[in-house]
Amino acid sequence: MTLTATNPATHRPTATRIRRLTGCKPTGHLHLGTLLGMIRPMLAAQHDTDSIMMIADLHALTVEHNPARLREYVAEQARVLLAAGIDPDRTILYVQSDLPEHTGLHYLLESATGYGEAQRMTQFKEKGAGAAGVRLSLLTYPVLMAADILLHDTDAVPVGDDQTQHLELARTIATRFNARYGEVFTVPVGQRPGVAARVMDLTEPRAKMGKTNEAALGTIGLLDPPDLVRRKVMRAVTDTLGVVGHDRDAQPGVTNLLEIYQACTGEPGGFTSYGALKAGVVDAVVAQLEPIQRAYAALSPREVDRVLADGAERAHPRAAATLRRAGEAIGLGGRGR
Ligand code: TRP
Repeated sequence: MTLTATNPATHRPTATRIRRLTGCKPTGHLHLGTLLGMIRPMLAAQHDTDSIMMIADLHALTVEHNPARLREYVAEQARVLLAAGIDPDRTILYVQSDLPEHTGLHYLLESATGYGEAQRMTQFKEKGAGAAGVRLSLLTYPVLMAADILLHDTDAVPVGDDQTQHLELARTIATRFNARYGEVFTVPVGQRPGVAARVMDLTEPRAKMGKTNEAALGTIGLLDPPDLVRRKVMRAVTDTLGVVGHDRDAQPGVTNLLEIYQACTGEPGGFTSYGALKAGVVDAVVAQLEPIQRAYAALSPREVDRVLADGAERAHPRAAATLRRAGEAIGLGGRGR
């Protein structure tokens, strides 16, 4: 690429591509919801964007955790992401704590964020406020997320409903910092993933499918063997209407199954019974998971470690430059100039 004019807002040549960052919190096994809502859009985008995929292990420390499990989840998630098609030649895949710049910028941004602003975050109010043993890091979590995003001069962040408010805070902090201390940060925009961004729990179809323990029957893990997928789908909650209809309010379970089927196959379905719908979903999901599981088995933990080390090395120079720029703007360092 030939270097052309530099965009003052991005500090990059105007010809460069959109930079996209996704973060994934290693608090459990990756599941079908992550595949359809997060990994798929990332795969589609990695050809024509400058993509970064970060495993947010620091974020996993905001709630009760087990150190050995955390390490296992980080390794497993990295391996699953690669198995699912994240291409390390196109996407920088790295572990958040491998770059100390995240915590460095987090502190600077904390000093540009109001206590009340953090306290007002809905997710904190729901999960944290008032509960015994709540970690201080849960309150400041959205500021760390802002640091993740701003560190990389990120243009676009794919966000689901639960992260929209946090992205908004990142934009507010960036804008305020730039206005007060000088144009340091790129102000990012949120991107909503398209269809099937919301895969719901099979046993509780009004709640989002989430990372939980392996015993959870409502969540399809990306490493679940076919017979387990079958068992879970066959036990999925439907209703007594007996009509395969698409209506999130009246028929949340059936609608979820239909949407999973459509997201996996790209076909509308045309099922006339719940039994046929479930059988169709089993086949569709197993067909999605099979190649991922094969690739997972073929990857060695050492290869994965190598990819992560390389990712951190590639991500580091820009992160270090942003932190230096932010520090100098806010009044640190810069002596002897
Ligand atoms: N907070 C996000 C979640 O819980 C994960 C995350 C951490 C993230 N840092 C990020 C997402 C930066 C996007 C950008 O899902």
